[in-house]
Amino acid sequence: MIKLTPAHVIVIKCLIHLASIAFFIQLVWLTFNNGFGADPVKGIEHFTGKAALNTLLITLCVTPLVRIFRLGLLVRVRRLLGLYSFTWAFIHLSAYVAFDLGFDWGLLASELTDRPYLLFGAISWVILFCLAVTSLQKIQRKMGKQWQRLHNLIYPALVVALFHYVWSVKSGLIEPGIYFAIGTGLLAYRWKSFKRMYTFRFKSRAL
Ligand code: HEM
Repeated sequence: MIKLTPAHVIVIKCLIHLASIAFFIQLVWLTFNNGFGADPVKGIEHFTGKAALNTLLITLCVTPLVRIFRLGLLVRVRRLLGLYSFTWAFIHLSAYVAFDLGFDWGLLASELTDRPYLLFGAISWVILFCLAVTSLQKIQRKMGKQWQRLHNLIYPALVVALFHYVWSVKSGLIEPGIYFAIGTGLLAYRWKSFKRMYTFRFKSRAL
C-alpha cells in the first residue's frame, strides 16, 4: 500500500499545474496553426468542453481513490482539480460568447431558451462557478454545514454536463456513451452516501 506524504501531494499538485498548462499551450497552438481545420470555433468549443468535463470526472475520481487505496492526503488535490474544471468551463463559455455570438448577451439568453442542451451546459456552469467562488477555506469555515450541502451540487453538475454533451453530439454516440458510463460509475460508487443523505433529510423534515 502506498503511503502519501505532504511532499507527494505537492508533487501531484505541480503535475496537475504542468498538465493543465500543457493542454492550454496545445489549445493556443492548435488555434493559431490551423490545427482545428475548417471550423476553428467549433474546434475550440469542443476542446475546452471536453477539458472541462474530463477535469470534472477526474475531480470525482479522487474520493474513490482515497477510499480504495487509503490515500487520505489525496483529498487535498480535489479543490485544485475542481478549480481547473471551472477554468476550462469559463474558457469554453467565453469562446462561445465571443466567437459564436460576438458578445451579443441578448442572443445568449435566447439561445439558452431555444436550445435546451445549452441550458443544461449553463446549469452545470453556474454550479461550477458557485463551487469555485466558495472553494476558499475561509469561506468554507464561514459557511459551516451549508458548504457541504452546496458542494454536493457537484453531482447534479456532472449529470447535466453529461446530458449537455450527449445532446450536443450530432453523430457517433460511442464516445459520449463511454463518458456516460464513467459518470454513472462514479455516481453509483456514491450510492450509499446519497441514500444516507436523503434518509437523513427525510427524517429531519418529518421531526
Ligand atoms: C453556459 C454554459 C455553456 C455553453 C453556452 C456551452 C456551449 C457549448 C457549445 C456551443 C458546444 C458545441 C456544440 C456543437 O458541436 O455544436 C458545446 C459542447 C460541449 N460542451 Fe458546452 N457549454 C456550456 C457549458 C459546459 C460545461 C459546464 C461543460 C462541462 C463541464 C461543457 C462541456 C461540453 C462538452 C463535453 C461538449 C462537447 C465537446 C465535443 O463534442 O467534443 N459545456 N458546449
